[in-house]
This record gives sequence, C-alpha cells and structure tokens, in this order.
Amino acid sequence: MISVAFHTQDVTLYPRLRRLAEQWRLPFLQASADTDALPFLLLATPCARPPGYRLSLCAHDDCDASRISIDFDSAKLLYRVLHGGGRRQALAKALGIGSAASLRLLDLTAGLGQDAFVAAALGCQVTMVERHPAIAALLDNALARARHTAQDRHGKTREAVDRMKLVHADAIEYFSRPSVQTAVDTVYLDPMYPAHSKSAKVKKGMALLQRVLAADPDNSRELLRHALQSGIKRIVLKRPKNAPVIGSPVGQVRSKATRFDLYTGTG
Ligand SMILES: C[S@@+](CC[C@H](N)C(=O)[O-])C[C@H]1O[C@@H](n2cnc3c(N)ncnc32)[C@H](O)[C@@H]1O
Repeated sequence: MISVAFHTQDVTLYPRLRRLAEQWRLPFLQASADTDALPFLLLATPCARPPGYRLSLCAHDDCDASRISIDFDSAKLLYRVLHGGGRRQALAKALGIGSAASLRLLDLTAGLGQDAFVAAALGCQVTMVERHPAIAALLDNALARARHTAQDRHGKTREAVDRMKLVHADAIEYFSRPSVQTAVDTVYLDPMYPAHSKSAKVKKGMALLQRVLAADPDNSRELLRHALQSGIKRIVLKRPKNAPVIGSPVGQVRSKATRFDLYTGTG
C-alpha cells in the first residue's frame, strides 16, 4: 500500500494539489486534516517559477529534520557536472559515453534522477523510468522547475533537462514494449541498496527513501534478466563496490564506492 499524500500549508495551492493528487493517484490532505494515518507527505511550497510550487518528500512526524527534494539546478549538481571528470568519470565510462555524439540511455530505476542528469549533461538522450508515484512526482516537479531555471553561466542545467524524459511506469512492463528496445543504446540499472555514507545528511535522506520504498519488492534480478534477454549491447548494473556479482558481467568499471557491472544482451 502506498502511504504518501500531497499536503500543503498554503490554501492557494489547494486546486493545483487536488489535480496533482488525481494525476498521481495519491490522496490529498488539507492542512487541517489528520495526517496520522499517512506516514509520508509530499509537501508543496509556493515557488516563483512554473509550475508555481516545489515538492519535497518527508516523514510526517519528522518533516523538519529530513526532507527529500530534487533540484537539478543545485550548485552541488552543477559542480559535479563541471568538475566530476566529464567523460572520464566512472559513470560515463560505464555507460559507454566515450566519444559517442548522443547516446540513447534508458534509466530503468530513475530514483532521484541524479545519475540521469549527469548522463544528460554529458550529452545523452535519457529516458527515466520510475514506478513509485511519489518519486515520479518529485522528478516531474524538478524537471518542470529546472526548465525555467535562471540560466547558469554554462547553460548546463537547461541543456541537460531538455534531454531528459520521465516515464511513470514499472520498468519491466515498459521495457517489454518492442518499440522501446529498438530505441536504446544503453540500459542503466541502479537498484536500492543500504546506505553506507558516513554523512549524516546523506544517511537521513537515503534512510527516508528506503522507508518510503520499503513496501516495494526488490526486483533487480528480474530487471537484469529482462534486459539480458534483449538485443541491447550495453547493460549497466550499479552496485556497492563489495556487493556480490550477479551472473557473468563482461566488464567492470570501478570508482571509490561503486562498481558498475557491464553486461551484453543476448536476444
Ligand atoms: C537507488 S534508486 C536510483 C537512484 C538514481 N540512480 C539516482 O541517481 O538518483 C532506485 C529507484 O528505482 C526505482 N525502481 C525499482 N524498481 C523499479 C521498477 N521495476 N520500475 C521502475 N522503477 C523502479 C525505485 O522506486 C527507486 O526510486
């Protein structure tokens, strides 16, 4: 059962939140409503840029301490794009970005869209697939705000988000559509795994994400199996550096904390 509801303290946002709640098939709780039954809230606050509100996700009993939101125009993400190693960074090598002009990347586990954004900033056309409606709503809101961001000095943010598309669907169902598989160069899988970061802030955010997603079964092996049955030449599975290897990768790219296992579709 999905226990997330849209919520706001700003009554002027009520009509928009009602429409959002219908769109994402989640409940809408008015400010006066008893929120105890719903452990997680998608909080909307007014924002000058379209679509006029900013969404963040929090545990309703701990909203001030820890919130998840996505800002594709954040200084941190821009720094990663400008100084993260470009096409020489592990993610780019794993995806096969190399000198390819415009790789078509299918990110079947979009999450907070951070890897997808970096790939898009490096020139990939990225389709992000996310099954959880609350995470998909966060991504959708972040993409909309970033399309209207004040242009950064390098023009990177808008350039990148213009190459990103969001699909709210189960990846296995979406991937089994034949037209999808013919339009992809690389498939990327980054299933959830326990957080090991020493940073308290990262830990809290990851712990919250894990709680929100706790009811969803881990289907990473099934996702990989489906991808391997396709004719796609490059399938990338992101894993913690010491996690057991699944199946028989044809290659590996390592970074400090992460290992990217590379597979080839056999279909
Ligand atoms: C660890 S997060 C991905 C993080 C992402 N790479 C990033 O950079 O932010 C994993 C995400 O995959 C999603 N997911 C897992 N199985 C899925 C499936 N079958 N279809 C679509 N999304 C799925 C989860 O809901 C979760 O949001």
